Amino acid sequence: MPLALELAWFASTVLFVIGLRRLSSPTRARSGIWCAGGGMSLAIIATALHPGLGGNYSLILAAMVLGGGIALLHARRVDMASIPQVVALYNGLGGIAAAGIGMLVLLNVTQYGALVKALAVLSGLIGCISFAGSMFAYLRLTGRFSRREDFAKRQVAYLANGALVLLLGLILATSATAHPVLLLAFAILAISFGLLMTLPTSAADMPVLISMYNALTGLAVALDGFVLENPTMMVAGTIVFAAGSLLTRLMARAVNRRLTEIMYSGFGITADGQVRTQARDHVNKIDARDAAVDMAYADRILIVPGYGMATAQAQHKLRELTQLLEERGVHTGFAIHPVAGRMPGHMNVLLAEAGVPYEKISDLNDINAEFSQVDVVLVVGANDIVNPAARDDPDSPLYGMPILDVDQAKRVIVVKRGDGTGYAGVENALLFSPVSRVLFGDARDTVQDLIMAIKGLD
Ligand code: TAP
Repeated sequence: MPLALELAWFASTVLFVIGLRRLSSPTRARSGIWCAGGGMSLAIIATALHPGLGGNYSLILAAMVLGGGIALLHARRVDMASIPQVVALYNGLGGIAAAGIGMLVLLNVTQYGALVKALAVLSGLIGCISFAGSMFAYLRLTGRFSRREDFAKRQVAYLANGALVLLLGLILATSATAHPVLLLAFAILAISFGLLMTLPTSAADMPVLISMYNALTGLAVALDGFVLENPTMMVAGTIVFAAGSLLTRLMARAVNRRLTEIMYSGFGITADGQVRTQARDHVNKIDARDAAVDMAYADRILIVPGYGMATAQAQHKLRELTQLLEERGVHTGFAIHPVAGRMPGHMNVLLAEAGVPYEKISDLNDINAEFSQVDVVLVVGANDIVNPAARDDPDSPLYGMPILDVDQAKRVIVVKRGDGTGYAGVENALLFSPVSRVLFGDARDTVQDLIMAIKGLD
Protein backbone atom coordinates (compact mmCIF):
# COMPACT_ATOMS: atom_id res chain seq x y z
CA MET A 1 0.00 0.00 0.00
CA PRO A 2 1.48 3.43 -0.95
CA LEU A 3 2.86 5.46 1.95
CA ALA A 4 0.85 8.56 0.89
CA LEU A 5 -2.40 6.59 1.22
CA GLU A 6 -1.48 5.32 4.66
CA LEU A 7 -0.55 8.85 5.75
CA ALA A 8 -3.86 10.22 4.43
CA TRP A 9 -5.82 7.57 6.33
CA PHE A 10 -3.80 8.32 9.45
CA ALA A 11 -4.50 12.05 9.10
CA SER A 12 -8.23 11.44 8.65
CA THR A 13 -8.24 9.25 11.77
CA VAL A 14 -6.57 12.03 13.76
CA LEU A 15 -9.17 14.51 12.44
CA PHE A 16 -12.00 12.19 13.62
CA VAL A 17 -10.53 12.06 17.12
CA ILE A 18 -10.02 15.83 17.29
CA GLY A 19 -13.54 16.36 15.90
CA LEU A 20 -15.08 14.14 18.58
CA ARG A 21 -13.06 15.86 21.29
CA ARG A 22 -14.28 19.28 20.15
CA LEU A 23 -17.88 18.09 20.04
CA SER A 24 -17.86 17.73 23.83
CA SER A 25 -18.07 21.50 24.27
CA PRO A 26 -20.89 23.64 22.82
CA THR A 27 -18.51 26.50 21.99
CA ARG A 28 -16.20 24.21 19.97
CA ALA A 29 -18.83 21.82 18.57
CA ARG A 30 -19.17 23.61 15.22
CA SER A 31 -15.44 23.36 14.52
CA GLY A 32 -15.61 19.70 15.67
CA ILE A 33 -18.17 18.98 12.95
CA TRP A 34 -15.95 20.64 10.34
CA CYS A 35 -12.95 18.68 11.60
CA ALA A 36 -14.72 15.31 11.43
CA GLY A 37 -16.22 16.23 8.04
CA GLY A 38 -12.74 17.12 6.77
CA GLY A 39 -11.46 13.77 8.03
CA MET A 40 -14.23 11.95 6.20
CA SER A 41 -13.59 13.87 2.95
CA LEU A 42 -9.89 13.07 3.18
CA ALA A 43 -10.64 9.38 3.80
CA ILE A 44 -12.96 9.26 0.76
CA ILE A 45 -10.49 11.02 -1.54
CA ALA A 46 -7.61 8.81 -0.36
CA THR A 47 -9.69 5.66 -0.88
CA ALA A 48 -10.74 6.83 -4.35
CA LEU A 49 -7.04 7.03 -5.27
CA HIS A 50 -6.36 3.51 -3.92
CA PRO A 51 -4.51 1.58 -6.67
CA GLY A 52 -6.60 -1.56 -6.07
CA LEU A 53 -9.95 0.16 -6.57
CA GLY A 54 -10.40 -1.21 -10.06
CA GLY A 55 -11.48 1.82 -12.10
CA ASN A 56 -15.24 1.79 -11.38
CA TYR A 57 -15.02 5.54 -11.02
CA SER A 58 -18.18 6.52 -12.90
CA LEU A 59 -20.32 4.17 -10.79
CA ILE A 60 -18.71 5.37 -7.55
CA LEU A 61 -19.13 9.01 -8.54
CA ALA A 62 -22.77 8.51 -9.56
CA ALA A 63 -23.54 6.79 -6.21
CA MET A 64 -21.80 9.55 -4.28
CA VAL A 65 -23.55 12.38 -6.13
CA LEU A 66 -26.95 10.68 -5.83
CA GLY A 67 -26.58 9.71 -2.16
CA GLY A 68 -24.92 12.98 -1.13
CA GLY A 69 -27.48 15.04 -3.07
CA ILE A 70 -30.48 13.30 -1.48
CA ALA A 71 -28.93 13.63 2.00
CA LEU A 72 -28.19 17.32 1.48
CA LEU A 73 -31.73 18.11 0.29
CA HIS A 74 -33.22 16.05 3.11
CA ALA A 75 -31.01 17.55 5.84
CA ARG A 76 -32.04 21.08 4.86
CA ARG A 77 -35.71 20.28 5.51
CA VAL A 78 -35.22 18.62 8.91
CA ASP A 79 -36.47 20.55 11.93
CA MET A 80 -34.96 20.17 15.40
CA ALA A 81 -37.85 18.12 16.79
CA SER A 82 -37.27 15.43 14.12
CA ILE A 83 -33.58 14.85 14.87
CA PRO A 84 -34.06 11.49 16.71
CA GLN A 85 -35.82 9.91 13.71
CA VAL A 86 -33.29 11.34 11.25
CA VAL A 87 -30.44 9.91 13.32
CA ALA A 88 -32.28 6.56 13.26
CA LEU A 89 -32.69 6.70 9.47
CA TYR A 90 -29.06 7.50 8.67
CA ASN A 91 -27.80 5.08 11.28
CA GLY A 92 -29.90 2.32 9.69
CA LEU A 93 -28.42 3.11 6.27
CA GLY A 94 -24.92 3.01 7.79
CA GLY A 95 -25.72 -0.38 9.30
CA ILE A 96 -26.86 -1.93 6.03
CA ALA A 97 -23.82 -0.48 4.20
CA ALA A 98 -21.52 -2.05 6.81
CA ALA A 99 -23.41 -5.35 6.51
CA GLY A 100 -23.03 -5.18 2.71
CA ILE A 101 -19.24 -5.19 3.02
CA GLY A 102 -19.34 -8.33 5.19
CA MET A 103 -21.76 -10.01 2.74
CA LEU A 104 -19.48 -9.21 -0.23
CA VAL A 105 -16.57 -10.89 1.54
CA LEU A 106 -18.74 -13.95 2.12
CA LEU A 107 -19.64 -14.02 -1.59
CA ASN A 108 -15.93 -14.06 -2.50
CA VAL A 109 -15.09 -16.44 0.29
CA THR A 110 -12.22 -18.24 -1.43
CA GLN A 111 -9.98 -15.18 -1.21
CA TYR A 112 -10.14 -14.95 2.59
CA GLY A 113 -8.92 -16.82 5.67
CA ALA A 114 -10.97 -18.18 8.57
CA LEU A 115 -10.63 -15.09 10.81
CA VAL A 116 -11.68 -12.65 8.10
CA LYS A 117 -14.71 -14.80 7.25
CA ALA A 118 -15.75 -14.91 10.92
CA LEU A 119 -15.41 -11.12 11.19
CA ALA A 120 -17.42 -10.71 7.97
CA VAL A 121 -20.24 -12.86 9.39
CA LEU A 122 -20.25 -10.74 12.55
CA SER A 123 -20.31 -7.45 10.67
CA GLY A 124 -23.11 -8.78 8.41
CA LEU A 125 -25.15 -9.88 11.42
CA ILE A 126 -24.64 -6.73 13.51
CA GLY A 127 -25.12 -4.40 10.52
CA CYS A 128 -28.43 -6.07 9.57
CA ILE A 129 -29.71 -5.94 13.17
CA SER A 130 -28.80 -2.27 13.39
CA PHE A 131 -30.49 -1.60 10.03
CA ALA A 132 -33.75 -3.35 11.00
CA GLY A 133 -33.93 -1.83 14.50
CA SER A 134 -33.07 1.68 13.33
CA MET A 135 -35.55 1.62 10.44
CA PHE A 136 -38.30 0.40 12.74
CA ALA A 137 -37.37 3.14 15.24
CA TYR A 138 -37.55 5.66 12.37
CA LEU A 139 -41.02 4.45 11.37
CA ARG A 140 -42.22 4.51 15.00
CA LEU A 141 -40.97 8.03 15.58
CA THR A 142 -42.51 9.32 12.36
CA GLY A 143 -45.85 7.90 13.50
CA ARG A 144 -46.08 4.94 11.08
CA PHE A 145 -46.54 2.53 14.02
CA SER A 146 -48.14 4.44 16.86
CA ARG A 147 -48.55 1.44 19.22
CA ARG A 148 -45.96 -0.83 20.79
CA GLU A 149 -46.09 -3.98 18.66
CA ASP A 150 -45.95 -7.27 20.46
CA PHE A 151 -47.48 -10.69 20.00
CA ALA A 152 -47.83 -13.90 21.95
CA LYS A 153 -44.81 -16.20 21.61
CA ARG A 154 -42.61 -13.32 20.44
CA GLN A 155 -39.92 -14.46 22.87
CA VAL A 156 -40.01 -17.95 21.34
CA ALA A 157 -39.83 -16.56 17.81
CA TYR A 158 -36.98 -14.29 18.92
CA LEU A 159 -34.91 -17.12 20.43
CA ALA A 160 -35.58 -19.49 17.48
CA ASN A 161 -34.65 -16.72 15.02
CA GLY A 162 -31.46 -16.01 16.99
CA ALA A 163 -30.42 -19.68 17.07
CA LEU A 164 -31.06 -20.10 13.34
CA VAL A 165 -29.13 -17.00 12.31
CA LEU A 166 -26.16 -18.06 14.46
CA LEU A 167 -26.21 -21.53 12.88
CA LEU A 168 -26.23 -20.07 9.37
CA GLY A 169 -23.44 -17.68 10.36
CA LEU A 170 -21.35 -20.59 11.59
CA ILE A 171 -21.86 -22.48 8.31
CA LEU A 172 -20.93 -19.41 6.24
CA ALA A 173 -17.84 -18.64 8.35
CA THR A 174 -16.47 -22.18 8.09
CA SER A 175 -17.42 -22.93 4.49
CA ALA A 176 -14.69 -23.07 1.82
CA THR A 177 -17.12 -22.10 -0.98
CA ALA A 178 -19.69 -19.33 -1.36
CA HIS A 179 -23.38 -20.08 -0.68
CA PRO A 180 -25.44 -17.19 -2.09
CA VAL A 181 -28.80 -18.71 -1.07
CA LEU A 182 -27.65 -19.37 2.49
CA LEU A 183 -26.22 -15.85 2.59
CA LEU A 184 -29.57 -14.38 1.55
CA ALA A 185 -31.36 -16.44 4.23
CA PHE A 186 -28.75 -15.25 6.77
CA ALA A 187 -29.40 -11.59 5.86
CA ILE A 188 -33.20 -11.99 6.04
CA LEU A 189 -32.99 -13.77 9.40
CA ALA A 190 -30.59 -11.15 10.81
CA ILE A 191 -33.02 -8.40 9.76
CA SER A 192 -36.02 -10.20 11.30
CA PHE A 193 -33.97 -10.73 14.49
CA GLY A 194 -33.39 -6.96 14.69
CA LEU A 195 -37.11 -6.34 14.15
CA LEU A 196 -38.18 -8.81 16.84
CA MET A 197 -35.74 -7.12 19.20
CA THR A 198 -37.25 -3.65 18.61
CA LEU A 199 -40.98 -4.37 18.26
CA PRO A 200 -41.99 -4.09 21.95
CA THR A 201 -40.12 -0.85 22.66
CA SER A 202 -42.32 2.21 23.21
CA ALA A 203 -41.86 5.35 21.11
CA ALA A 204 -40.64 7.34 24.11
CA ASP A 205 -37.87 4.81 24.76
CA MET A 206 -36.68 4.82 21.16
CA PRO A 207 -33.89 7.43 21.66
CA VAL A 208 -32.06 5.09 24.04
CA LEU A 209 -32.42 2.22 21.61
CA ILE A 210 -31.29 4.37 18.67
CA SER A 211 -28.14 5.20 20.61
CA MET A 212 -27.55 1.46 21.11
CA TYR A 213 -28.02 0.76 17.39
CA ASN A 214 -25.65 3.62 16.64
CA ALA A 215 -23.02 1.83 18.75
CA LEU A 216 -23.75 -1.42 16.89
CA THR A 217 -23.30 0.24 13.49
CA GLY A 218 -19.94 1.53 14.73
CA LEU A 219 -18.98 -1.99 15.75
CA ALA A 220 -19.96 -3.38 12.33
CA VAL A 221 -17.85 -0.68 10.61
CA ALA A 222 -14.87 -1.44 12.90
CA LEU A 223 -15.15 -5.15 12.03
CA ASP A 224 -15.23 -4.22 8.32
CA GLY A 225 -12.07 -2.18 8.95
CA PHE A 226 -10.31 -5.36 10.10
CA VAL A 227 -11.71 -7.29 7.14
CA LEU A 228 -10.50 -4.68 4.61
CA GLU A 229 -7.34 -3.84 6.59
CA ASN A 230 -8.48 -0.22 6.60
CA PRO A 231 -7.24 1.59 9.74
CA THR A 232 -9.58 4.58 9.27
CA MET A 233 -12.63 2.33 9.37
CA MET A 234 -11.23 0.46 12.37
CA VAL A 235 -10.67 3.64 14.37
CA ALA A 236 -13.80 5.52 13.24
CA GLY A 237 -15.98 2.44 13.88
CA THR A 238 -14.43 1.88 17.31
CA ILE A 239 -14.96 5.54 18.24
CA VAL A 240 -18.63 5.36 17.23
CA PHE A 241 -19.01 2.07 19.10
CA ALA A 242 -17.41 3.44 22.27
CA ALA A 243 -19.25 6.78 22.16
CA GLY A 244 -22.58 5.09 21.37
CA SER A 245 -22.15 2.55 24.19
CA LEU A 246 -21.28 5.26 26.71
CA LEU A 247 -24.21 7.40 25.60
CA THR A 248 -26.61 4.44 25.82
CA ARG A 249 -25.39 3.71 29.35
CA LEU A 250 -25.64 7.36 30.32
CA MET A 251 -29.19 7.69 28.96
CA ALA A 252 -30.37 4.46 30.58
CA ARG A 253 -28.84 5.57 33.90
CA ALA A 254 -30.33 9.04 33.69
CA VAL A 255 -33.81 7.51 33.36
CA ASN A 256 -32.83 5.09 36.14
CA ARG A 257 -33.49 1.91 34.15
CA ARG A 258 -31.64 -1.01 32.68
CA LEU A 259 -31.43 -1.41 28.92
CA THR A 260 -33.31 -4.73 29.11
CA GLU A 261 -36.18 -2.97 30.92
CA ILE A 262 -36.31 -0.32 28.23
CA MET A 263 -36.49 -2.97 25.55
CA TYR A 264 -39.10 -5.16 27.18
CA SER A 265 -41.28 -3.23 29.63
CA GLY A 266 -44.34 -1.07 29.04
CA PHE A 267 -42.96 1.84 31.04
CA GLY A 268 -43.21 4.96 28.94
CA ILE A 269 -46.47 3.86 27.36
CA THR A 270 -48.01 7.17 28.42
CA ALA A 271 -45.88 9.05 25.97
CA ASP A 272 -48.40 7.62 23.55
CA GLY A 273 -50.98 9.55 25.58
CA GLN A 274 -52.79 6.92 27.61
CA VAL A 275 -52.56 8.11 31.24
CA ARG A 276 -53.82 11.49 32.40
CA THR A 277 -53.21 13.36 35.65
CA GLN A 278 -56.06 14.24 38.01
CA ALA A 279 -54.19 17.35 39.12
CA ARG A 280 -56.09 20.10 37.36
CA ASP A 281 -58.74 20.66 40.03
CA HIS A 282 -56.40 20.25 43.01
CA VAL A 283 -53.41 22.47 42.28
CA ASN A 284 -52.83 26.14 43.09
CA LYS A 285 -53.25 28.05 39.87
CA ILE A 286 -51.75 31.38 38.90
CA ASP A 287 -52.43 33.69 35.98
CA ALA A 288 -49.84 35.32 33.73
CA ARG A 289 -50.17 38.73 35.41
CA ASP A 290 -49.46 37.46 38.93
CA ALA A 291 -46.67 35.24 37.64
CA ALA A 292 -45.17 38.27 35.87
CA VAL A 293 -45.19 40.23 39.14
CA ASP A 294 -43.42 37.36 40.96
CA MET A 295 -40.78 37.26 38.25
CA ALA A 296 -40.30 40.97 37.64
CA TYR A 297 -39.53 41.68 41.32
CA ALA A 298 -37.31 38.63 41.93
CA ASP A 299 -33.53 38.78 42.36
CA ARG A 300 -32.79 35.47 40.78
CA ILE A 301 -34.82 33.28 38.42
CA LEU A 302 -34.01 29.87 36.96
CA ILE A 303 -35.86 28.43 34.00
CA VAL A 304 -36.22 24.65 33.65
CA PRO A 305 -37.23 23.68 30.11
CA GLY A 306 -38.59 20.24 29.22
CA TYR A 307 -40.21 18.27 26.43
CA GLY A 308 -43.22 20.61 26.31
CA MET A 309 -40.94 23.59 25.65
CA ALA A 310 -39.49 21.68 22.70
CA THR A 311 -42.86 20.71 21.22
CA ALA A 312 -44.16 24.26 21.63
CA GLN A 313 -40.89 25.67 20.19
CA ALA A 314 -40.90 28.23 23.01
CA GLN A 315 -37.11 28.71 23.16
CA HIS A 316 -37.06 32.04 21.28
CA LYS A 317 -39.79 33.46 23.52
CA LEU A 318 -37.88 32.29 26.60
CA ARG A 319 -34.77 34.05 25.37
CA GLU A 320 -36.82 37.23 24.92
CA LEU A 321 -38.28 36.82 28.42
CA THR A 322 -34.85 36.44 30.05
CA GLN A 323 -33.53 39.50 28.16
CA LEU A 324 -36.48 41.52 29.42
CA LEU A 325 -35.90 40.36 33.00
CA GLU A 326 -32.15 41.04 32.79
CA GLU A 327 -32.93 44.60 31.67
CA ARG A 328 -34.90 44.94 34.92
CA GLY A 329 -31.90 43.72 36.94
CA VAL A 330 -33.12 40.16 37.53
CA HIS A 331 -30.43 37.45 37.34
CA THR A 332 -31.63 34.68 35.05
CA GLY A 333 -30.31 31.28 34.02
CA PHE A 334 -31.38 27.91 32.64
CA ALA A 335 -31.10 24.59 34.51
CA ILE A 336 -30.87 21.57 32.23
CA HIS A 337 -31.52 17.96 33.19
CA PRO A 338 -29.47 15.41 31.19
CA VAL A 339 -32.61 13.66 29.86
CA ALA A 340 -34.91 16.65 29.49
CA GLY A 341 -36.87 16.28 26.27
CA ARG A 342 -36.47 13.20 24.13
CA MET A 343 -32.87 13.13 22.94
CA PRO A 344 -29.44 13.81 24.41
CA GLY A 345 -28.71 17.51 24.49
CA HIS A 346 -32.26 18.32 23.31
CA MET A 347 -32.60 21.46 25.43
CA ASN A 348 -29.02 22.65 24.85
CA VAL A 349 -29.53 22.48 21.09
CA LEU A 350 -32.80 24.43 21.21
CA LEU A 351 -31.46 27.09 23.58
CA ALA A 352 -28.32 27.48 21.48
CA GLU A 353 -30.54 27.86 18.41
CA ALA A 354 -32.38 30.68 20.21
CA GLY A 355 -29.08 32.41 21.03
CA VAL A 356 -29.05 31.80 24.79
CA PRO A 357 -25.42 32.35 25.91
CA TYR A 358 -23.71 29.11 27.08
CA GLU A 359 -22.72 30.64 30.40
CA LYS A 360 -26.41 31.08 31.25
CA ILE A 361 -26.96 27.30 31.01
CA SER A 362 -26.12 25.01 33.95
CA ASP A 363 -26.47 21.28 34.21
CA LEU A 364 -27.98 19.27 37.04
CA ASN A 365 -24.79 18.62 39.01
CA ASP A 366 -23.70 22.24 38.97
CA ILE A 367 -27.04 23.86 39.78
CA ASN A 368 -28.88 21.53 42.14
CA ALA A 369 -27.40 22.91 45.36
CA GLU A 370 -28.40 26.46 44.34
CA PHE A 371 -32.19 26.12 44.06
CA SER A 372 -32.69 27.11 47.72
CA GLN A 373 -31.21 30.54 46.88
CA VAL A 374 -33.51 31.07 43.90
CA ASP A 375 -36.61 33.28 44.16
CA VAL A 376 -38.57 31.87 41.24
CA VAL A 377 -38.15 28.72 39.15
CA LEU A 378 -40.13 28.76 35.91
CA VAL A 379 -40.72 25.15 34.80
CA VAL A 380 -41.70 25.19 31.12
CA GLY A 381 -43.19 21.93 29.78
CA ALA A 382 -41.14 19.71 32.09
CA ASN A 383 -42.60 17.03 34.31
CA ASP A 384 -40.59 13.90 35.23
CA ILE A 385 -37.26 15.69 35.58
CA VAL A 386 -38.64 17.89 38.38
CA ASN A 387 -40.85 15.33 40.13
CA PRO A 388 -39.80 15.18 43.83
CA ALA A 389 -41.30 11.67 44.06
CA ALA A 390 -38.17 10.44 42.26
CA ARG A 391 -36.22 11.62 45.32
CA ASP A 392 -38.71 11.07 48.17
CA ASP A 393 -41.13 8.26 47.31
CA PRO A 394 -39.67 4.73 47.23
CA ASP A 395 -42.94 3.47 45.68
CA SER A 396 -42.69 5.81 42.69
CA PRO A 397 -41.62 4.20 39.38
CA LEU A 398 -39.27 7.18 39.06
CA TYR A 399 -37.62 6.58 42.45
CA GLY A 400 -33.84 6.87 42.17
CA MET A 401 -33.83 8.97 38.98
CA PRO A 402 -31.82 12.15 39.63
CA ILE A 403 -34.03 15.25 39.42
CA LEU A 404 -33.63 19.00 39.51
CA ASP A 405 -34.56 19.97 43.10
CA VAL A 406 -36.74 22.88 42.01
CA ASP A 407 -39.09 22.43 45.00
CA GLN A 408 -36.31 23.87 47.18
CA ALA A 409 -36.84 27.32 45.61
CA LYS A 410 -39.01 30.02 47.20
CA ARG A 411 -41.59 29.94 44.38
CA VAL A 412 -42.10 27.49 41.48
CA ILE A 413 -44.29 28.36 38.51
CA VAL A 414 -45.11 25.36 36.31
CA VAL A 415 -46.27 26.03 32.75
CA LYS A 416 -48.27 23.16 31.24
CA ARG A 417 -51.32 22.84 29.03
CA GLY A 418 -53.54 20.59 31.11
CA ASP A 419 -53.71 17.02 32.36
CA GLY A 420 -50.68 15.48 30.64
CA THR A 421 -48.38 13.48 32.91
CA GLY A 422 -45.28 13.37 30.73
CA TYR A 423 -43.19 10.45 29.62
CA ALA A 424 -43.26 8.19 32.70
CA GLY A 425 -46.99 8.55 33.23
CA VAL A 426 -46.79 9.27 36.95
CA GLU A 427 -48.41 12.10 38.87
CA ASN A 428 -46.02 14.99 39.48
CA ALA A 429 -45.75 15.67 43.23
CA LEU A 430 -44.28 19.10 42.44
CA LEU A 431 -47.67 20.34 41.29
CA PHE A 432 -49.04 19.87 44.84
CA SER A 433 -46.09 21.45 46.67
CA PRO A 434 -46.98 24.55 48.76
CA VAL A 435 -44.41 26.60 46.81
CA SER A 436 -45.86 25.65 43.41
CA ARG A 437 -48.30 27.53 41.22
CA VAL A 438 -49.51 26.14 37.90
CA LEU A 439 -49.87 28.44 34.92
CA PHE A 440 -52.00 26.56 32.42
CA GLY A 441 -51.44 27.13 28.71
CA ASP A 442 -49.27 26.28 25.74
CA ALA A 443 -45.62 27.04 26.53
CA ARG A 444 -45.03 29.51 23.70
CA ASP A 445 -48.31 31.41 24.12
CA THR A 446 -47.88 31.53 27.89
CA VAL A 447 -44.32 32.85 27.75
CA GLN A 448 -45.55 35.48 25.30
CA ASP A 449 -48.29 36.41 27.81
CA LEU A 450 -45.61 36.71 30.52
CA ILE A 451 -43.55 39.01 28.30
CA MET A 452 -46.57 41.23 27.65
CA ALA A 453 -47.52 41.26 31.34
CA ILE A 454 -43.98 42.24 32.43
CA LYS A 455 -43.88 45.00 29.82
CA GLY A 456 -47.26 46.16 31.14
CA LEU A 457 -45.83 46.60 34.65
CA ASP A 458 -43.82 49.68 33.67
P1 TAP B 1 -42.06 15.02 30.24
O1 TAP B 1 -41.91 14.28 31.51
O2 TAP B 1 -42.38 14.25 29.01
O3 TAP B 1 -43.18 16.14 30.50
C1 TAP B 1 -43.56 17.01 29.50
C2 TAP B 1 -44.54 18.00 30.10
O4 TAP B 1 -44.74 19.02 29.14
C3 TAP B 1 -45.88 17.43 30.44
O5 TAP B 1 -46.19 17.77 31.75
C4 TAP B 1 -46.87 18.10 29.49
O6 TAP B 1 -48.07 18.36 30.19
C5 TAP B 1 -46.11 19.36 29.12
N1 TAP B 1 -46.35 19.84 27.76
C6 TAP B 1 -46.44 19.13 26.62
N2 TAP B 1 -46.63 19.92 25.56
C7 TAP B 1 -46.70 21.18 26.05
C8 TAP B 1 -46.88 22.45 25.46
N3 TAP B 1 -47.07 22.61 24.14
N4 TAP B 1 -46.89 23.55 26.27
C9 TAP B 1 -46.71 23.43 27.61
N5 TAP B 1 -46.52 22.25 28.21
C10 TAP B 1 -46.51 21.14 27.44
O7 TAP B 1 -40.77 15.87 29.89
P2 TAP B 1 -39.43 16.12 30.71
O8 TAP B 1 -39.74 16.62 32.08
O9 TAP B 1 -38.58 16.92 29.78
O10 TAP B 1 -38.81 14.69 30.92
C11 TAP B 1 -38.27 13.95 29.83
C12 TAP B 1 -38.72 12.53 29.98
O11 TAP B 1 -38.36 11.84 28.77
C13 TAP B 1 -37.99 11.83 31.12
O12 TAP B 1 -38.85 10.95 31.80
C14 TAP B 1 -36.89 11.07 30.42
O13 TAP B 1 -36.49 9.94 31.13
C15 TAP B 1 -37.59 10.70 29.12
N6 TAP B 1 -36.63 10.38 28.04
C16 TAP B 1 -35.66 11.27 27.74
C17 TAP B 1 -34.73 10.95 26.79
C18 TAP B 1 -33.62 11.93 26.50
S1 TAP B 1 -32.23 11.38 25.99
N7 TAP B 1 -33.81 13.21 26.69
C19 TAP B 1 -34.79 9.76 26.08
C20 TAP B 1 -35.85 8.87 26.40
C21 TAP B 1 -36.76 9.21 27.39
P3 TAP B 1 -49.40 18.78 29.40
O14 TAP B 1 -49.68 17.69 28.42
O15 TAP B 1 -50.42 18.91 30.49
O16 TAP B 1 -49.14 20.08 28.74
